[in-house]
Amino acid sequence: MKPNRTLFSESASKIYNAAALILISIVVCSMFLRETCSLLSAQDYSSEPKPKMSRGINIGNALEAPEEGMWGVYIKDEYFGIIREAGFDTVRIPIRWSAHAEEKPPYKISDEFFRRVDHIIGKALEQNLTVIINVHHYEEIMRDPLGHRERFLAIWRQISERYKDYPESLYFELLNEPHDALTSELWNDLLLHAIRVIRESNPTRKIIVGPAGWNSVYNLKDLLLPSDKNIIVTFHLYTPFEFTHQGAEWVNPSPPVGKKWLGTEGEKKQIIDELDMAVKWAMERGNIPLLLGEFGAYSKADMNSRVRWTYFVAREAEKRNISWCYWEFCSGFGAYDPRAGKWREELLNALIPKMGMHYVSADTEHGSISGSGWYYEGTYATIKLERTEFGFLILEVFDHFEGLNPEKDRIIDEGTVEIYVDGPREVKAIWRRDYTRLILVVGVIGIVCALLILHSKVLKIFSQIPLKIYFKK
Ligand code: GLC
Repeated sequence: MKPNRTLFSESASKIYNAAALILISIVVCSMFLRETCSLLSAQDYSSEPKPKMSRGINIGNALEAPEEGMWGVYIKDEYFGIIREAGFDTVRIPIRWSAHAEEKPPYKISDEFFRRVDHIIGKALEQNLTVIINVHHYEEIMRDPLGHRERFLAIWRQISERYKDYPESLYFELLNEPHDALTSELWNDLLLHAIRVIRESNPTRKIIVGPAGWNSVYNLKDLLLPSDKNIIVTFHLYTPFEFTHQGAEWVNPSPPVGKKWLGTEGEKKQIIDELDMAVKWAMERGNIPLLLGEFGAYSKADMNSRVRWTYFVAREAEKRNISWCYWEFCSGFGAYDPRAGKWREELLNALIPKMGMHYVSADTEHGSISGSGWYYEGTYATIKLERTEFGFLILEVFDHFEGLNPEKDRIIDEGTVEIYVDGPREVKAIWRRDYTRLILVVGVIGIVCALLILHSKVLKIFSQIPLKIYFKK
Protein backbone atom coordinates (compact mmCIF):
# COMPACT_ATOMS: atom_id res chain seq x y z
CA MET A 1 0.00 0.00 0.00
CA LYS A 2 2.97 2.07 0.45
CA PRO A 3 3.40 2.77 -3.26
CA ASN A 4 -0.22 3.82 -3.29
CA ARG A 5 0.39 6.10 -0.44
CA THR A 6 3.41 7.42 -2.29
CA LEU A 7 1.23 7.80 -5.33
CA PHE A 8 -1.33 9.59 -3.25
CA SER A 9 1.20 11.79 -1.59
CA GLU A 10 2.79 12.57 -4.97
CA SER A 11 -0.50 13.65 -6.48
CA ALA A 12 -1.38 15.50 -3.29
CA SER A 13 1.86 17.43 -3.39
CA LYS A 14 1.18 18.26 -7.05
CA ILE A 15 -2.22 19.64 -6.06
CA TYR A 16 -0.63 21.57 -3.21
CA ASN A 17 1.97 23.00 -5.56
CA ALA A 18 -0.63 23.98 -8.10
CA ALA A 19 -2.79 25.57 -5.39
CA ALA A 20 0.21 27.45 -4.03
CA LEU A 21 1.06 28.63 -7.53
CA ILE A 22 -2.50 29.85 -8.10
CA LEU A 23 -2.49 31.57 -4.71
CA ILE A 24 0.81 33.30 -5.40
CA SER A 25 -0.42 34.36 -8.84
CA ILE A 26 -3.62 35.75 -7.32
CA VAL A 27 -1.63 37.73 -4.73
CA VAL A 28 0.84 39.03 -7.34
CA CYS A 29 -1.97 39.85 -9.75
CA SER A 30 -3.99 41.66 -7.13
CA MET A 31 -0.91 43.63 -6.09
CA PHE A 32 -0.28 44.54 -9.72
CA LEU A 33 -3.92 45.49 -10.20
CA ARG A 34 -3.88 47.65 -7.10
CA GLU A 35 -0.79 49.41 -8.44
CA THR A 36 -2.40 49.93 -11.85
CA CYS A 37 -5.60 51.21 -10.29
CA SER A 38 -3.77 53.69 -8.15
CA LEU A 39 -1.82 54.80 -11.22
CA LEU A 40 -5.08 55.23 -13.06
CA SER A 41 -6.70 57.14 -10.27
CA ALA A 42 -3.69 59.47 -10.08
CA GLN A 43 -4.65 60.73 -13.51
CA ASP A 44 -8.34 60.64 -12.91
CA TYR A 45 -9.16 64.10 -11.66
CA SER A 46 -12.73 63.14 -10.84
CA SER A 47 -11.49 61.37 -7.73
CA GLU A 48 -9.84 64.57 -6.50
CA PRO A 49 -11.70 66.94 -4.19
CA LYS A 50 -14.10 69.12 -6.14
CA PRO A 51 -12.59 72.47 -7.10
CA LYS A 52 -13.75 75.22 -4.82
CA MET A 53 -14.85 78.53 -6.20
CA SER A 54 -16.12 80.86 -3.51
CA ARG A 55 -13.75 83.78 -2.95
CA GLY A 56 -11.62 84.89 -5.87
CA ILE A 57 -9.65 87.76 -7.27
CA ASN A 58 -9.07 89.03 -10.80
CA ILE A 59 -5.50 89.45 -11.92
CA GLY A 60 -6.55 92.37 -14.09
CA ASN A 61 -4.66 94.80 -16.31
CA ALA A 62 -2.08 92.16 -17.22
CA LEU A 63 -2.93 89.67 -19.97
CA GLU A 64 -5.92 91.66 -21.21
CA ALA A 65 -3.73 94.66 -22.01
CA PRO A 66 -2.63 94.79 -25.66
CA GLU A 67 0.67 93.31 -24.40
CA GLU A 68 1.30 92.05 -20.89
CA GLY A 69 2.99 94.81 -18.90
CA MET A 70 1.62 97.66 -21.02
CA TRP A 71 -0.92 98.54 -18.33
CA GLY A 72 1.60 98.22 -15.54
CA VAL A 73 0.98 94.61 -14.52
CA TYR A 74 3.25 91.72 -15.35
CA ILE A 75 2.12 88.56 -13.58
CA LYS A 76 4.80 87.26 -11.23
CA ASP A 77 4.82 83.57 -10.31
CA GLU A 78 4.82 84.44 -6.63
CA TYR A 79 1.43 86.19 -6.91
CA PHE A 80 -0.44 82.90 -6.81
CA GLY A 81 1.11 81.85 -3.51
CA ILE A 82 0.37 85.28 -2.07
CA ILE A 83 -3.24 85.01 -3.21
CA ARG A 84 -3.71 81.49 -1.86
CA GLU A 85 -2.07 82.37 1.42
CA ALA A 86 -4.43 85.33 1.88
CA GLY A 87 -7.39 82.96 1.76
CA PHE A 88 -8.67 83.17 -1.81
CA ASP A 89 -9.52 79.92 -3.58
CA THR A 90 -9.96 81.28 -7.12
CA VAL A 91 -8.19 83.51 -9.63
CA ARG A 92 -9.83 84.96 -12.70
CA ILE A 93 -7.34 85.75 -15.41
CA PRO A 94 -8.65 88.13 -18.07
CA ILE A 95 -6.93 87.46 -21.42
CA ARG A 96 -6.95 89.42 -24.68
CA TRP A 97 -6.56 86.44 -27.03
CA SER A 98 -7.69 88.60 -29.94
CA ALA A 99 -4.37 90.50 -29.77
CA HIS A 100 -2.43 87.24 -30.21
CA ALA A 101 -4.45 85.45 -32.88
CA GLU A 102 -4.08 85.82 -36.63
CA GLU A 103 -6.59 88.06 -38.38
CA LYS A 104 -7.28 85.51 -41.09
CA PRO A 105 -8.21 81.80 -41.04
CA PRO A 106 -7.11 79.62 -39.36
CA TYR A 107 -6.82 82.46 -36.80
CA LYS A 108 -3.84 80.76 -35.17
CA ILE A 109 -3.00 81.87 -31.64
CA SER A 110 0.70 82.58 -31.23
CA ASP A 111 2.66 79.71 -29.66
CA GLU A 112 4.65 82.09 -27.54
CA PHE A 113 1.51 83.61 -26.06
CA PHE A 114 0.02 80.17 -25.45
CA ARG A 115 3.20 79.15 -23.62
CA ARG A 116 2.91 82.21 -21.41
CA VAL A 117 -0.72 81.37 -20.58
CA ASP A 118 0.25 77.70 -19.93
CA HIS A 119 2.86 78.91 -17.49
CA ILE A 120 0.44 81.16 -15.63
CA ILE A 121 -2.31 78.56 -15.42
CA GLY A 122 0.28 76.04 -14.22
CA LYS A 123 1.50 78.33 -11.46
CA ALA A 124 -2.06 79.01 -10.31
CA LEU A 125 -2.95 75.30 -10.31
CA GLU A 126 0.21 74.52 -8.34
CA GLN A 127 -1.28 76.64 -5.59
CA ASN A 128 -4.51 74.69 -5.69
CA LEU A 129 -6.44 77.63 -7.01
CA THR A 130 -9.45 77.33 -9.23
CA VAL A 131 -8.50 79.18 -12.41
CA ILE A 132 -10.88 81.03 -14.68
CA ILE A 133 -9.55 82.07 -18.06
CA ASN A 134 -11.72 84.19 -20.29
CA VAL A 135 -11.76 86.11 -23.55
CA HIS A 136 -11.40 89.74 -22.47
CA HIS A 137 -11.38 93.02 -24.38
CA TYR A 138 -12.28 91.50 -27.72
CA GLU A 139 -13.27 95.03 -28.81
CA GLU A 140 -13.64 94.17 -32.49
CA ILE A 141 -16.40 91.64 -31.86
CA MET A 142 -18.41 94.26 -29.97
CA ARG A 143 -18.39 96.46 -33.09
CA ASP A 144 -18.81 93.72 -35.68
CA PRO A 145 -20.17 90.51 -34.12
CA LEU A 146 -20.87 88.70 -37.36
CA GLY A 147 -17.54 89.66 -38.91
CA HIS A 148 -15.71 88.19 -35.93
CA ARG A 149 -17.89 85.17 -35.29
CA GLU A 150 -15.63 82.59 -36.96
CA ARG A 151 -12.52 84.05 -35.39
CA PHE A 152 -14.11 83.95 -31.93
CA LEU A 153 -15.10 80.30 -32.41
CA ALA A 154 -11.65 79.44 -33.75
CA ILE A 155 -10.06 81.04 -30.70
CA TRP A 156 -12.21 78.87 -28.44
CA ARG A 157 -11.48 75.76 -30.49
CA GLN A 158 -7.75 76.28 -29.96
CA ILE A 159 -8.06 77.07 -26.25
CA SER A 160 -10.29 74.04 -25.70
CA GLU A 161 -7.95 71.69 -27.54
CA ARG A 162 -4.92 72.95 -25.69
CA TYR A 163 -6.38 72.63 -22.21
CA LYS A 164 -8.68 69.64 -22.65
CA ASP A 165 -6.57 67.45 -20.37
CA TYR A 166 -6.16 70.06 -17.66
CA PRO A 167 -7.79 69.40 -14.30
CA GLU A 168 -11.40 70.33 -13.81
CA SER A 169 -10.34 73.28 -11.65
CA LEU A 170 -9.64 75.18 -14.86
CA TYR A 171 -12.82 77.00 -15.91
CA PHE A 172 -13.55 78.68 -19.23
CA GLU A 173 -15.44 81.98 -19.38
CA LEU A 174 -16.72 82.70 -22.86
CA LEU A 175 -16.52 86.47 -23.17
CA ASN A 176 -16.15 89.39 -20.82
CA GLU A 177 -18.93 91.99 -20.93
CA PRO A 178 -20.51 91.55 -24.38
CA HIS A 179 -21.93 94.94 -25.39
CA ASP A 180 -22.72 97.41 -28.19
CA ALA A 181 -23.48 95.63 -31.46
CA LEU A 182 -23.18 92.26 -29.74
CA THR A 183 -26.81 92.36 -28.60
CA SER A 184 -28.53 89.74 -26.46
CA GLU A 185 -29.98 88.15 -29.56
CA LEU A 186 -26.64 87.78 -31.34
CA TRP A 187 -24.90 86.80 -28.14
CA ASN A 188 -27.41 84.02 -27.39
CA ASP A 189 -26.68 82.50 -30.76
CA LEU A 190 -22.91 82.94 -30.53
CA LEU A 191 -22.62 81.52 -27.02
CA LEU A 192 -24.54 78.43 -28.09
CA HIS A 193 -22.02 77.78 -30.85
CA ALA A 194 -19.04 78.54 -28.64
CA ILE A 195 -20.29 76.08 -26.03
CA ARG A 196 -20.71 73.44 -28.75
CA VAL A 197 -17.12 74.01 -29.87
CA ILE A 198 -15.82 73.66 -26.30
CA ARG A 199 -17.91 70.57 -25.63
CA GLU A 200 -16.27 68.72 -28.56
CA SER A 201 -13.08 68.41 -26.51
CA ASN A 202 -14.18 69.32 -22.98
CA PRO A 203 -17.45 67.48 -22.31
CA THR A 204 -17.76 68.41 -18.65
CA ARG A 205 -15.54 71.41 -18.04
CA LYS A 206 -17.21 74.32 -16.23
CA ILE A 207 -18.14 77.06 -18.66
CA ILE A 208 -18.98 80.52 -17.39
CA VAL A 209 -21.38 82.72 -19.35
CA GLY A 210 -22.70 86.20 -18.64
CA PRO A 211 -25.46 88.30 -20.19
CA ALA A 212 -24.98 90.94 -22.88
CA GLY A 213 -25.08 94.61 -21.86
CA TRP A 214 -21.74 94.49 -20.01
CA ASN A 215 -22.68 91.44 -17.92
CA SER A 216 -25.26 93.56 -16.16
CA VAL A 217 -27.74 91.82 -13.94
CA TYR A 218 -30.54 93.73 -15.68
CA ASN A 219 -29.79 91.83 -18.90
CA LEU A 220 -29.98 88.36 -17.37
CA LYS A 221 -33.63 88.14 -18.39
CA ASP A 222 -32.55 88.05 -22.05
CA LEU A 223 -29.84 85.41 -21.62
CA LEU A 224 -30.68 82.03 -23.16
CA LEU A 225 -28.62 78.97 -22.29
CA PRO A 226 -28.40 75.44 -23.64
CA SER A 227 -29.26 72.68 -21.24
CA ASP A 228 -25.89 71.80 -19.74
CA LYS A 229 -25.35 71.20 -16.05
CA ASN A 230 -21.77 72.48 -16.15
CA ILE A 231 -22.64 76.07 -16.87
CA ILE A 232 -22.14 78.85 -14.33
CA VAL A 233 -23.69 82.25 -14.91
CA THR A 234 -21.73 85.38 -14.20
CA PHE A 235 -22.64 89.03 -13.74
CA HIS A 236 -20.74 92.17 -12.68
CA LEU A 237 -21.65 94.69 -10.01
CA TYR A 238 -20.27 98.24 -9.87
CA THR A 239 -23.29 99.94 -8.31
CA PRO A 240 -23.44 102.89 -7.89
CA PHE A 241 -21.18 103.51 -10.86
CA GLU A 242 -20.55 107.16 -9.85
CA PHE A 243 -19.01 105.83 -6.66
CA THR A 244 -17.04 102.82 -7.93
CA HIS A 245 -15.73 104.58 -11.04
CA GLN A 246 -15.12 108.07 -9.69
CA GLY A 247 -12.11 109.59 -11.43
CA ALA A 248 -11.72 106.55 -13.73
CA GLU A 249 -9.63 107.75 -16.67
CA TRP A 250 -11.09 105.19 -19.07
CA VAL A 251 -14.67 106.37 -18.50
CA ASN A 252 -15.94 109.34 -20.48
CA PRO A 253 -17.19 111.52 -18.87
CA SER A 254 -15.39 110.37 -15.76
CA PRO A 255 -17.62 110.65 -12.65
CA PRO A 256 -16.33 113.37 -10.28
CA VAL A 257 -14.14 112.34 -7.36
CA GLY A 258 -15.43 112.76 -3.81
CA LYS A 259 -18.50 110.55 -3.74
CA LYS A 260 -18.68 108.51 -0.57
CA TRP A 261 -20.48 105.30 0.14
CA LEU A 262 -21.82 105.46 3.65
CA GLY A 263 -23.89 102.30 3.71
CA THR A 264 -27.24 104.02 4.17
CA GLU A 265 -30.36 101.90 3.81
CA GLY A 266 -30.93 103.34 0.33
CA GLU A 267 -27.38 102.58 -0.79
CA LYS A 268 -27.55 99.04 0.54
CA LYS A 269 -30.91 98.44 -1.10
CA GLN A 270 -29.50 99.14 -4.58
CA ILE A 271 -26.98 96.32 -4.13
CA ILE A 272 -29.38 93.93 -2.44
CA ASP A 273 -31.89 94.41 -5.24
CA GLU A 274 -29.32 93.50 -7.90
CA LEU A 275 -28.14 90.40 -6.05
CA ASP A 276 -31.71 89.29 -5.38
CA MET A 277 -32.55 89.78 -9.01
CA ALA A 278 -29.70 87.44 -9.99
CA VAL A 279 -30.74 84.82 -7.43
CA LYS A 280 -34.37 84.95 -8.53
CA TRP A 281 -33.36 84.51 -12.15
CA ALA A 282 -31.10 81.56 -11.33
CA MET A 283 -33.71 79.85 -9.14
CA GLU A 284 -36.36 80.09 -11.82
CA ARG A 285 -34.02 78.24 -14.17
CA GLY A 286 -33.29 75.31 -11.90
CA ASN A 287 -30.86 76.94 -9.51
CA ILE A 288 -28.00 77.74 -11.89
CA PRO A 289 -24.78 78.46 -9.94
CA LEU A 290 -23.87 82.15 -9.91
CA LEU A 291 -20.56 83.98 -10.02
CA LEU A 292 -20.17 87.67 -9.29
CA GLY A 293 -17.19 87.82 -11.62
CA GLU A 294 -16.25 91.46 -11.00
CA PHE A 295 -16.95 94.03 -8.31
CA GLY A 296 -14.69 96.72 -6.90
CA ALA A 297 -14.25 100.43 -6.26
CA TYR A 298 -11.47 102.45 -7.89
CA SER A 299 -8.64 103.83 -5.77
CA LYS A 300 -9.78 107.43 -6.24
CA ALA A 301 -12.68 106.80 -3.87
CA ASP A 302 -11.87 107.23 -0.17
CA MET A 303 -10.68 104.10 1.58
CA ASN A 304 -13.38 104.05 4.28
CA SER A 305 -16.10 104.03 1.64
CA ARG A 306 -14.28 101.37 -0.39
CA VAL A 307 -13.96 99.13 2.64
CA ARG A 308 -17.61 99.57 3.60
CA TRP A 309 -18.79 98.90 0.03
CA THR A 310 -16.48 95.95 -0.60
CA TYR A 311 -17.32 94.30 2.71
CA PHE A 312 -21.02 94.78 2.13
CA VAL A 313 -21.07 93.41 -1.43
CA ALA A 314 -18.91 90.38 -0.56
CA ARG A 315 -20.98 89.43 2.50
CA GLU A 316 -24.30 89.90 0.73
CA ALA A 317 -23.09 87.73 -2.15
CA GLU A 318 -21.95 85.04 0.29
CA LYS A 319 -25.31 85.10 2.09
CA ARG A 320 -26.90 84.21 -1.24
CA ASN A 321 -24.37 81.51 -2.08
CA ILE A 322 -22.93 83.55 -4.93
CA SER A 323 -19.20 83.01 -5.56
CA TRP A 324 -17.28 86.21 -6.19
CA CYS A 325 -14.07 87.53 -7.74
CA TYR A 326 -12.90 90.96 -6.65
CA TRP A 327 -11.76 93.39 -9.34
CA GLU A 328 -8.75 93.39 -8.98
CA PHE A 329 -5.41 92.26 -7.54
CA CYS A 330 -2.64 94.85 -7.96
CA SER A 331 -3.65 97.72 -10.24
CA GLY A 332 -6.06 100.68 -9.93
CA PHE A 333 -8.59 98.83 -7.77
CA GLY A 334 -5.82 96.76 -6.21
CA ALA A 335 -6.25 94.96 -2.92
CA TYR A 336 -2.49 94.27 -3.11
CA ASP A 337 0.20 96.93 -3.32
CA PRO A 338 2.87 95.55 -5.66
CA ARG A 339 5.38 98.31 -4.88
CA ALA A 340 5.22 97.79 -1.14
CA GLY A 341 4.92 94.04 -1.73
CA LYS A 342 2.01 93.70 0.67
CA TRP A 343 -1.75 93.59 0.86
CA ARG A 344 -3.78 96.70 1.52
CA GLU A 345 -5.04 95.21 4.75
CA GLU A 346 -8.16 97.37 4.81
CA LEU A 347 -9.36 95.88 1.54
CA LEU A 348 -8.09 92.38 2.14
CA ASN A 349 -9.95 92.20 5.45
CA ALA A 350 -13.06 93.54 3.77
CA LEU A 351 -12.86 90.66 1.31
CA ILE A 352 -11.69 87.95 3.69
CA PRO A 353 -12.56 89.08 7.19
CA LYS A 354 -10.56 87.86 10.13
CA MET A 355 -12.53 86.38 13.00
CA GLY A 356 -13.28 88.88 15.75
CA MET A 357 -12.14 91.95 13.82
CA HIS A 358 -14.23 95.02 13.05
CA TYR A 359 -13.70 98.05 10.90
CA VAL A 360 -13.54 101.43 12.58
CA SER A 361 -14.00 104.28 10.15
CA ALA A 362 -13.24 107.86 11.02
CA ASP A 363 -14.30 110.63 8.67
CA THR A 364 -13.84 114.35 8.53
CA GLU A 365 -14.78 117.09 6.09
CA HIS A 366 -11.67 119.14 6.86
CA GLY A 367 -8.02 118.17 7.14
CA SER A 368 -7.19 114.60 7.88
CA ILE A 369 -8.04 112.10 10.54
CA SER A 370 -6.10 108.99 11.51
CA GLY A 371 -7.17 105.75 13.14
CA SER A 372 -9.45 104.11 10.56
CA GLY A 373 -8.78 100.41 10.23
CA TRP A 374 -9.51 96.88 11.34
CA TYR A 375 -9.29 96.22 15.05
CA TYR A 376 -9.83 93.24 17.26
CA GLU A 377 -12.96 93.24 19.34
CA GLY A 378 -12.34 94.47 22.86
CA THR A 379 -9.48 96.80 21.90
CA TYR A 380 -9.43 100.58 21.52
CA ALA A 381 -8.91 102.51 18.29
CA THR A 382 -7.27 105.91 18.65
CA ILE A 383 -8.91 108.46 16.39
CA LYS A 384 -6.98 111.68 15.99
CA LEU A 385 -7.64 114.86 14.04
CA GLU A 386 -4.54 116.39 12.56
CA ARG A 387 -5.80 119.97 13.19
CA THR A 388 -8.81 121.36 14.96
CA GLU A 389 -8.99 124.78 13.28
CA PHE A 390 -8.92 125.95 9.69
CA GLY A 391 -9.43 129.28 7.93
CA PHE A 392 -8.58 132.92 8.54
CA LEU A 393 -11.54 135.23 8.94
CA ILE A 394 -14.24 132.61 9.07
CA LEU A 395 -12.88 129.71 11.06
CA GLU A 396 -13.84 126.06 10.67
CA VAL A 397 -13.57 124.83 14.22
CA PHE A 398 -13.82 121.22 15.33
CA ASP A 399 -16.85 120.85 17.55
CA HIS A 400 -17.31 117.22 18.53
CA PHE A 401 -17.18 113.60 17.35
CA GLU A 402 -20.41 112.10 16.20
CA GLY A 403 -20.98 108.40 16.86
CA LEU A 404 -19.34 108.14 20.29
CA ASN A 405 -20.49 105.79 22.97
CA PRO A 406 -20.23 107.89 26.15
CA GLU A 407 -20.08 104.81 28.35
CA LYS A 408 -17.24 103.04 26.60
CA ASP A 409 -15.24 105.55 24.56
CA ARG A 410 -12.59 107.80 26.05
CA ILE A 411 -11.96 111.42 25.17
CA ILE A 412 -8.22 112.04 25.36
CA ASP A 413 -8.00 115.68 24.33
CA GLU A 414 -9.60 118.06 21.87
CA GLY A 415 -9.46 116.14 18.61
CA THR A 416 -8.39 112.76 20.03
CA VAL A 417 -10.64 110.00 21.17
CA GLU A 418 -10.29 106.29 21.93
CA ILE A 419 -13.06 104.17 20.52
CA TYR A 420 -13.98 100.87 22.10
CA VAL A 421 -14.28 98.21 19.43
CA ASP A 422 -17.38 96.15 20.13
CA GLY A 423 -18.50 95.93 16.51
CA PRO A 424 -18.09 98.03 13.35
CA ARG A 425 -17.80 101.67 14.47
CA GLU A 426 -18.21 104.90 12.57
CA VAL A 427 -17.01 108.19 13.94
CA LYS A 428 -17.35 111.53 12.24
CA ALA A 429 -15.75 114.84 13.16
CA ILE A 430 -18.39 117.58 13.27
CA TRP A 431 -17.22 121.09 12.55
CA ARG A 432 -18.83 124.47 13.13
CA ARG A 433 -18.26 127.91 11.63
CA ASP A 434 -16.84 130.46 13.97
CA TYR A 435 -17.48 134.07 12.90
CA THR A 436 -15.88 135.73 15.96
CA ARG A 437 -12.80 136.85 14.09
CA LEU A 438 -14.86 138.16 11.22
CA ILE A 439 -17.12 140.07 13.61
CA LEU A 440 -14.09 141.45 15.42
CA VAL A 441 -12.39 142.54 12.22
CA VAL A 442 -15.60 144.05 10.85
CA GLY A 443 -16.12 145.77 14.19
CA VAL A 444 -12.63 147.23 14.21
CA ILE A 445 -12.97 148.35 10.62
CA GLY A 446 -16.34 149.89 11.50
CA ILE A 447 -14.90 151.77 14.44
CA VAL A 448 -11.96 152.99 12.37
CA CYS A 449 -14.30 154.13 9.63
CA ALA A 450 -16.57 155.83 12.15
CA LEU A 451 -13.59 157.59 13.65
CA LEU A 452 -12.39 158.66 10.23
CA ILE A 453 -15.81 160.01 9.33
CA LEU A 454 -16.04 161.75 12.66
CA HIS A 455 -12.63 163.13 12.15
CA SER A 456 -13.41 164.46 8.73
CA LYS A 457 -16.69 165.94 9.98
CA VAL A 458 -14.92 167.68 12.83
CA LEU A 459 -12.38 169.02 10.40
CA LYS A 460 -15.19 170.23 8.19
CA ILE A 461 -16.92 172.05 11.08
CA PHE A 462 -13.70 173.67 12.03
CA SER A 463 -13.03 174.67 8.50
CA GLN A 464 -16.38 176.47 8.32
CA ILE A 465 -15.65 178.71 11.32
CA PRO A 466 -14.38 182.05 9.95
CA LEU A 467 -10.70 182.56 10.46
CA LYS A 468 -11.25 185.92 12.13
CA ILE A 469 -12.78 184.20 15.12
CA TYR A 470 -9.44 182.66 15.76
CA PHE A 471 -7.58 185.78 15.34
CA LYS A 472 -10.18 187.99 17.01
CA LYS A 473 -7.95 188.71 19.87
C1 GLC B 1 -14.24 95.67 -17.01
C2 GLC B 1 -13.20 96.06 -17.96
C3 GLC B 1 -11.93 96.34 -17.25
C4 GLC B 1 -12.17 97.44 -16.26
C5 GLC B 1 -13.22 96.97 -15.27
C6 GLC B 1 -13.57 98.09 -14.32
O1 GLC B 1 -13.96 94.38 -16.68
O2 GLC B 1 -13.02 95.06 -18.89
O3 GLC B 1 -10.92 96.71 -18.12
O4 GLC B 1 -11.01 97.80 -15.60
O5 GLC B 1 -14.38 96.55 -15.94
O6 GLC B 1 -14.04 99.20 -15.05
